[in-house]
Amino acid sequence: YNVLVLNGPNLNMLGVREPAVYGSATLTEIINDLTERANVLSVELTHLQSNAEHELVTAIQQSLGQQDFILFNPGAFTHTSIALRDALLAVAVPFIEIHISNVHARESFRRHSYLSDIAKGVICGLGAKGYHYALDAAVSLLNTTK
Ligand code: DQA
Repeated sequence: YNVLVLNGPNLNMLGVREPAVYGSATLTEIINDLTERANVLSVELTHLQSNAEHELVTAIQQSLGQQDFILFNPGAFTHTSIALRDALLAVAVPFIEIHISNVHARESFRRHSYLSDIAKGVICGLGAKGYHYALDAAVSLLNTTK
């Protein structure tokens, strides 16, 4: 399978950014670990982090016919972006929404997501391991829909 991992704004700051909320692992460490797991599962992983909404929209558009699944931590765009929602609806590539922190235990504006209702599932509050759980879930979903 081909799986696209997308990380939105400020996730390039992991390790430095609010470690009490997001942990101490850097995004590079998380993606390296995830790539090892992907290799075990025979998954081809592609990763993009961007602080720019349009780059994420373009990456989603380009996933059409190229990617079987998207693992998506949209960062703050979760709570703001109709454009990302529309891109995901346009390509209809199945995706899991990931949040490192428990967005339900924080400010009330983090409780609303423009993406959750169109996601296969949502993983939040389980730290960087959420990416691993999401990858395992994606492979399991892909195996059952074959
Ligand atoms: C986040 C949660 C968002 O509310 C926040 O804006 C982020 C990170 C998370 O991984 O917990 O940037 O998506």
